[in-house]
Amino acid sequence: MNTINIGIVGLGRLGKRHALNLAQRVPGARIVAACSPVADELGWASQVLPTASTYTDYAQLLRHPDLDAVFLVTPTSLHAEQIIAALQAGKHVFCEKPLALNMADCLRVEQVAAAFPHQVATIGFVRRFDPSYRDAFDKIRAGQIGTPYLLRSQTCDQNDPSGFFVRFAETSGGIFMDCSVHDIDLARWLLGANRAKRVWATGTIAIHHGLQAHHDVDNGIAMCEFGSGQLATFFASRTQAHGHETATEVFGTTGRLAIGSNPRKNRVEISDQHGVRSECVGDFFERFSDAFLLEAQDFVNAVLQRRAPVLTLADATEATRIGLAITEAFRTKQMVTLD
Ligand code: NAI
Repeated sequence: MNTINIGIVGLGRLGKRHALNLAQRVPGARIVAACSPVADELGWASQVLPTASTYTDYAQLLRHPDLDAVFLVTPTSLHAEQIIAALQAGKHVFCEKPLALNMADCLRVEQVAAAFPHQVATIGFVRRFDPSYRDAFDKIRAGQIGTPYLLRSQTCDQNDPSGFFVRFAETSGGIFMDCSVHDIDLARWLLGANRAKRVWATGTIAIHHGLQAHHDVDNGIAMCEFGSGQLATFFASRTQAHGHETATEVFGTTGRLAIGSNPRKNRVEISDQHGVRSECVGDFFERFSDAFLLEAQDFVNAVLQRRAPVLTLADATEATRIGLAITEAFRTKQMVTLD
């Protein structure tokens, strides 16, 4: 086998991007099916993905006769059920982050996946494929900053006045599960930390008061102490004026690494009556476009080479465990101790 037949499920903000990557830029991938309940999105698929059969119903897509794998880019609240259905139908699965919104679902997915060990199942923590984050990981593992003991990381989106983030909050699990879950995964990966011990969080609504109905905020901060004593702080925001800014610092006993601290769009610098400045990347996809491609390629290669994916379901379960504890701390205003 040198090509896998993929069904793309969910054609929204990110699904269309994944679909285009898989159709045009990932050797070994072929899109044979696309699924969305939204007619306009299927119309887009018919035009842009000519090799794809279109489905409004996910169960029907799973019955496509030539399907090897699914790419799930659907609302987070659907992930667990859709992963399980795909595994039980004999398909390999790539699913967007986070794995699920409660621990029972995470563990259920892991249990079903264990029954199908020859099928790849992985979750899209895209930053692990970003060349800068990967370089930082390699430098830390090579001992270039000594022993890493603290990580400070943020995921900050540009303000979207359309109200997208308010609508999105209904299924996203809130700002910590949606945004900080990336930083949580980075903390575990870059610090080499495993289980979190204690977390605390708080947040505020600066602009999008509609979030109150979803018990969510547009700016949140959290602190996390790992069992090994390492520390992490996370900041997530939906209200940045200048663009998207994902940035991380890792402090070690002999040095510090900073990743993404200048979120500039390119190497152009404008000097005018406002001063000297650069434009900023607009959104997560612009910042991580290479990483999304490398992530998709890794999934396809894992299937073709019959090897384990870079990111395990256990990693994704731990990120959810910490994200849920942080969400609980935010909602109860209490420090949460993890088992
Ligand atoms: P979106 O709301 O723009 O798109 C969701 C899509 O799922 C839509 O096409 C919708 O029609 C479709 N859908 C809804 N119910 C469905 C069903 N029952 N069966 C099939 N399709 C269904 O959301 P967005 O922003 O594209 O997010 C999707 C997922 O991707 C979320 O889990 C989110 O956390 C993740 N994501 C990950 C990012 C990353 O940096 N790795 C960035 C943005 C989103």
